[in-house]
Amino acid sequence: MDQSCSVEWGRHFLARHAKVCLRKGYLYNANQHGKENTIVSDFEIVGKISDFEEGQGRAVPVDGRMVAVFRTADEWFAIDDLCPHMGASLAEGYVEGKMVTCPWHAWRFCIRDGTWEDNPKTRVDCFEVKVEGDDVLVREKTTSEEA
Ligand code: FES
Repeated sequence: MDQSCSVEWGRHFLARHAKVCLRKGYLYNANQHGKENTIVSDFEIVGKISDFEEGQGRAVPVDGRMVAVFRTADEWFAIDDLCPHMGASLAEGYVEGKMVTCPWHAWRFCIRDGTWEDNPKTRVDCFEVKVEGDDVLVREKTTSEEA
């Protein structure tokens, strides 16, 4: 990776992870210490059912960020696509049951609620998914920190 590519990657990472902060020596997401303030956006169509393969993730843009959508035999899930460790795409991870393993360094996340399986204090954002007809829709649901 040349330097300009590295700088561009860094900007991209920081832009997407503005809500992630470093405190007390570990990474955690702004939504885990928020209490009451929930912001709910509108559902966005992210594709057709046939665009999503069962047992695998697919990254889609939602409200300006990438979201990993997972289709299981009878349920749909969506979490932030960006791994909080070093930014790999969680949609490209290995899915087993309700867990996805990051393709770069094997951190494991629950696709149901975004919890990091190895450190439940940390989690990535979780999104709502619904299917209407042939369309798959995703809505961001974030919790902001109280002042
Ligand atoms: S980038 Fe995901 S575990 Fe390292």
